[in-house]
Amino acid sequence: MTNPTPNHPDETTPVLSLQDVGYAYTKGGKRVLDHVSHDFLPGRVHAITGPSGAGKTTLLSLISGLAVPTAGRVLHNGDDLAGKDRYAYRSRDIGVIFQSFNLLPGLTVAENIILSMDASGKRFERPKQDIARDLLAQVHLPAEYANERILHLSGGEQQRVAIARALSYDPPVIVADEPTGNLDIATQEDIMAIFRSLAHEQNRCVIIVTHSPEVAAASDEVFELAPLRRRKA
Ligand SMILES: Nc1ncnc2c1ncn2[C@@H]1O[C@H](COP(=O)(O)OP(=O)(O)OP(=O)(O)O)[C@@H](O)[C@H]1O
Ligand SMILES: [Mg+2]
Repeated sequence: MTNPTPNHPDETTPVLSLQDVGYAYTKGGKRVLDHVSHDFLPGRVHAITGPSGAGKTTLLSLISGLAVPTAGRVLHNGDDLAGKDRYAYRSRDIGVIFQSFNLLPGLTVAENIILSMDASGKRFERPKQDIARDLLAQVHLPAEYANERILHLSGGEQQRVAIARALSYDPPVIVADEPTGNLDIATQEDIMAIFRSLAHEQNRCVIIVTHSPEVAAASDEVFELAPLRRRKA
């Protein structure tokens, strides 16, 4: 038996932990999240569900360090994210797939992927072009796509590039906001198979916001955010 260390947590040590988290966009305004607690584990696909307006996207922005809770804490490997260098956290520790992808349309697929590798400040053992090519295979895109401009790709293809980019600096956590929202069933199933393999074969923690019952059913666990009553904090 070896003891888990902070850098090599075992599968029951949460990589992210929400502790009684609350959030209001304005001081004294309504809380869009209230008393939310949950653990996110490596090696698992977590679905976050709940009605529109329940605060799912807001919760992802707290998990990804884009905003800080107004109550409670988000712990990353046991440390409060609020006290960390959140720019470094976002560019190395977590890969975020936004609903609108946020890819740079005039650049090629490879350029988009390599830009985020550069921003991570990490050292890479192999040429970045080679890593980008392997990432395209992982998201089931042909290697020729490396030199295509984003604006020439379909929505489903851009979704795959957004996943490849999120993986480019090898983060232990991947979060995605409605990653299958506008995709046909076959593509949705393929994207879910990719997410499952990122969790089950690569031991990443995958967190997916979804309205889709099929995506929730294909996840390892479902965390349902209850709708909040509209009230002043
Ligand atoms: N930038 C913002 N400023 C003020 N209020 C906001 C902002 N973004 C979201 N909200 C409010 O916070 C609440 C939760 O929004 P959020 O986008 O997190 O919901 P959601 O669960 O992701 O919904 P959907 O399923 O429609 O995407 C909503 O009432 C919304 O109006
Ligand atoms: Mg949302």
